Amino acid sequence: MITGAVGMALLLMVCQTDGCSELFTNSCTCIDDRSKGPSVHTVRKKVICSKENLSDPPDPRVLPNRTVHLILSNNKIVVLKNDSFLGLYALEKLDLKNNLISTIMPGAFHGLTEMKRLDLSNNRIGCLIPAIFHSLGELNRLNLSGNIFSNLHPNLFDPLVSLKLVDFNTESLMCDCNMQWVLNWERNSSARISEATVCAYPRALQGQQFKSLKESQLGCDGPLELPTLQLIPSLRQVVFQGDRLPFQCTATYIDNTTQVLWYHNSAPVRPEAESGLTVEDSMIHDCSFISSELILSNIYLLASGEWECVISTSRGNSSRKVEIVVLETSASYCPAEHVTNNRGEFRWPRTLSGIVSYQLCLQYPSFSVIRPSLEKKASRRCGRSGQWETGDYSECLYINDYTRTLHIFTRVIRGNSIIMLEALERV
Ligand SMILES: *[C@@H]1O[C@H](CO)[C@@H](O)[C@H](O)[C@H]1NC(C)=O
Ligand SMILES: *[C@@H]1O[C@H](CO)[C@@H](O)[C@H](O)[C@H]1NC(C)=O
Ligand SMILES: *[C@@H]1O[C@H](CO)[C@@H](O)[C@H](O)[C@H]1NC(C)=O
Ligand SMILES: *[C@@H]1O[C@H](CO)[C@@H](O)[C@H](O)[C@H]1NC(C)=O
Ligand SMILES: *[C@@H]1O[C@H](CO)[C@@H](O)[C@H](O)[C@H]1NC(C)=O
Ligand SMILES: *[C@@H]1O[C@H](CO)[C@@H](O)[C@H](O)[C@H]1NC(C)=O
Ligand SMILES: *[C@@H]1O[C@H](CO)[C@@H](O)[C@H](O)[C@H]1NC(C)=O
Repeated sequence: MITGAVGMALLLMVCQTDGCSELFTNSCTCIDDRSKGPSVHTVRKKVICSKENLSDPPDPRVLPNRTVHLILSNNKIVVLKNDSFLGLYALEKLDLKNNLISTIMPGAFHGLTEMKRLDLSNNRIGCLIPAIFHSLGELNRLNLSGNIFSNLHPNLFDPLVSLKLVDFNTESLMCDCNMQWVLNWERNSSARISEATVCAYPRALQGQQFKSLKESQLGCDGPLELPTLQLIPSLRQVVFQGDRLPFQCTATYIDNTTQVLWYHNSAPVRPEAESGLTVEDSMIHDCSFISSELILSNIYLLASGEWECVISTSRGNSSRKVEIVVLETSASYCPAEHVTNNRGEFRWPRTLSGIVSYQLCLQYPSFSVIRPSLEKKASRRCGRSGQWETGDYSECLYINDYTRTLHIFTRVIRGNSIIMLEALERV
């Protein structure tokens, strides 16, 4: 790698007469920065390291120390460590958009005292604290749009004393009481909030420009609306006794009162080692999400029913539930069965054990034209061991009664099936 880098550097020295001889990486290209107009001794450099799949910013020591514009967009940078740009004392514009940045260490921008524009848009930033911006006293444009936070840490922008324009539009921006400070701050500073910054929640303010809001609109009294609340699995599950079934609940982290609670058939869940039920401690991710996992490592029959994940906060609760059907492993089905008895003909479908199956009466073949309007039903339970129990046919009329009734009607009202139907319904 070293020989490669040195070789490339030599190549660059040979090919470039523009003074970018200090560029010692083949991931970047370097050109003169003429944004301040042509000058005799051009020392201002623009360095482009875009679309290179970089997982870290290049070491600042391999970049020209007169770099004023550094473009690192469209890479795969995940973390900005302390001193990531130390030594680039002339840097004025830093473009980090379209990366995977989730963590910015508080000293990441150390030494960038000339920095004027910082673009962090379209990353995965959830945690932002004022300390991150401490060295950026000259910054006048900051773009935080397209990240994962729902609100901003109080006084986040205080270190940015020269800020003129900020964009913090996100798909989950919650315009509530936690954001009131932003309006106060804007009023008292020369900074403006970009028109692109619009509310996503609550729904009543969806699409409204943040800068157009009044303080009274930023409340926390309405019903709790979480941008994210997901329970996995989300749809009814049919599982076998003894299986392992994990439930995962993830929600927007509102504040430090946010908790995940689990309920089974409306009763609070208690971890029970002997029955294999464990609840992992809930975790907070990127200051933006809280998640909890409940695991049934050895499903028991009584685990059937509704499992619910409740997000409880000082501002109200919100929940998701899912139904679980537990089947015994042994003989879990009753086979399909065709039964003809003195109440008619019944085709019982293949049925899960423990489930009651229903069939409408009036199954006699010659009645197929008659809609089963009587809504009388026969029922039959498939037992726990996969054996059909005796059915309950008591709601259905004896076939003989049908036959007799029908016989009478066909004789009296020949072929007038509509009248015959109505008459039959009154039987
Ligand atoms: C980046 O990664 C993608 C997918 O792995 C690949 O197609 C592309 O060629 C890579 N680009 C560079 C410059 O290495
Ligand atoms: C910048 O780099 C040049 C060339 O390597 C060097 O002469 C100069 O001392 C460096 N300036 C600073 C402030 O480090
Ligand atoms: C990073 O910088 C911050 C602020 O200067 C400091 O508090 C922290 O200890 C540093 N962390 C590391 C890992 O060096
Ligand atoms: C911030 O970045 C987003 C996405 O890159 C862009 O659409 C938006 O216009 C930028 N905002 C400002 C104020 O430049
Ligand atoms: C407004 O800014 C001034 C000067 O920075 C400060 O003294 C004052 O307390 C601020 N007012 C508010 C309401 O933040
Ligand atoms: C929760 O946050 C509030 C206000 O932000 C603070 O006063 C309180 O001490 C915090 N509580 C805990 C348990 O961290
Ligand atoms: C939220 O849930 C908690 C815990 O179940 C309960 O104590 C509290 O009363 C609920 N709050 C509301 C507003 O429903």
